[in-house]
Amino acid sequence: MRAISRRSALTGALGLVGGALLGSTGGCANPSRDQTARLLSSTTPLPERFSVPFVVPPVKQPVSRAGGASAYEIVQRRAVLEILPGRQTEVLGYDGLLPGPTIVAPRGEQVTVTHRNELYLPTVVHLHGGHTAAASDGYPTDLLLPAASPTGRRLSGHAHTTGGASGVVARGSRPYVYENEQPAATLWYHDHRMDFTGPQVWRGLAGLYLITDDAEEALGLPAGDHDLPVMIMDRAFAADGSLAYPSLDPRLLETPGVRDPYTAGVLGDVVLINGRPWPELAVDAARYRLRIVNASNARRYRLGLSPGPAGGGAPFLQVGSDGGLLAAPLSQHEILVAPAERFDVVVDFGAYPVGTEVVLTNALGLGSTDAVMRFRVVRSVRDASRVPEHLAWWEALETAPDTPVREWRFSRGGAGGPAHWLINGRAFDPDRMDARPRLDQTEIWRFSSDLHHPVHVHLSPFQVLRRGSDGPGRWDAGWKDTVDLTPTETVEVAIRFTEHTGRYMLHCHNLEHEDMMMMAAFETMA
Ligand code: C2O
Ligand code: CU
Repeated sequence: MRAISRRSALTGALGLVGGALLGSTGGCANPSRDQTARLLSSTTPLPERFSVPFVVPPVKQPVSRAGGASAYEIVQRRAVLEILPGRQTEVLGYDGLLPGPTIVAPRGEQVTVTHRNELYLPTVVHLHGGHTAAASDGYPTDLLLPAASPTGRRLSGHAHTTGGASGVVARGSRPYVYENEQPAATLWYHDHRMDFTGPQVWRGLAGLYLITDDAEEALGLPAGDHDLPVMIMDRAFAADGSLAYPSLDPRLLETPGVRDPYTAGVLGDVVLINGRPWPELAVDAARYRLRIVNASNARRYRLGLSPGPAGGGAPFLQVGSDGGLLAAPLSQHEILVAPAERFDVVVDFGAYPVGTEVVLTNALGLGSTDAVMRFRVVRSVRDASRVPEHLAWWEALETAPDTPVREWRFSRGGAGGPAHWLINGRAFDPDRMDARPRLDQTEIWRFSSDLHHPVHVHLSPFQVLRRGSDGPGRWDAGWKDTVDLTPTETVEVAIRFTEHTGRYMLHCHNLEHEDMMMMAAFETMA
């Protein structure tokens, strides 16, 4: 494994990847488990794992649905929830929930979600993976200010940037319009406020958004209560039960960023699945579709099943990635999922005797984070679902020697200060366009890294062409909108924007890197 030796070289040079990142785990000298981030340990007693029931976030009902369009209303508000059994935790939630309600949108139906901000701070809503018009894409300075501001408080929301004058600011409520002219896929929506995305997502502002279509429905994949979201978030809890996060300004109003030594990213020691700590789910001995979404700020997971299925086969049949269904299912022994990535997998619990407990393990976790949830196989049933050999039509984006190439280098900036993480050596400036790609022109974007950076591009998905001198990695299949860059790696992708002109962005989806300036803007041109 070439990556390991490179990584140890880096550890020496930067002291950033390695045991030193593990924080206060009681002198544990265990080497890094492939994270560029630091553990923030909870100071409240943690519940026993697999002791609370698995839940599915509620599906949001539209306020109206007619003529191929539907309208939704979501209120962003504070709420006190029981996340840890017997403890009270205040969240900032869509409808006061963590995660927020799920929106299910049939392909081609126009969805308008009117968000009302009843919080005390600015927000921005981004539909991650959506092919969205610029006005609704959630540019970080297009703020939604609360209806009522706390007296005397300046609510610029981008305290340390000189630019940002071009942000379109609304107060009270704001409609976001999604055309959903894209294939069935597992998307998610989350906060994207300039400088404060990390703490606002950490406190709860994230939810699922599923696009469905007839082609997918006709396949016969596991459906109904055999089609489950698995939204993974790691979090840390303070002694009083509140969510702990090392913000420089805990009110999230003035100074952005996090305290040292968390500037590389914040990891928690509690794993929430759909908002519950390490839940357990009773399952039929049948196929299930699990829509894995990594909604963690900085943590990467390498998921497996223990025990594996009888006969030693691969436990996961991957059927989809960020942008929707793969052309054909892919057997996977493990799923490596970086922040913001999605993997749709089918697991056949029919391969286990009734009574088996099957743990969804995380090989990149230590201690409390080495497992994320548990399934208990409780009954045998007749399973009518199937996973066909052919899933979806696939078009490989063609590149040629004269295809335009753009370089995007993700690296650490100077020590201290908000400009901690840079792209091409520059801090984000919302008014500076770093690229002007033309619609319908395929380009090659070459991403390179110093450390781990999950790179995300808004508006259109891409296809991974190469990792270093090799082809795509085993978790790179399909249409991707986020790609996991490991230390000192170069990944080339083919990308083509096909609709919507305007201002968009690419950025690192380690949310602490993002808040500390690892973003770049581009403008799509007709
Ligand atoms: Cu999931 Cu620009 O974000
Ligand atoms: Cu990064």
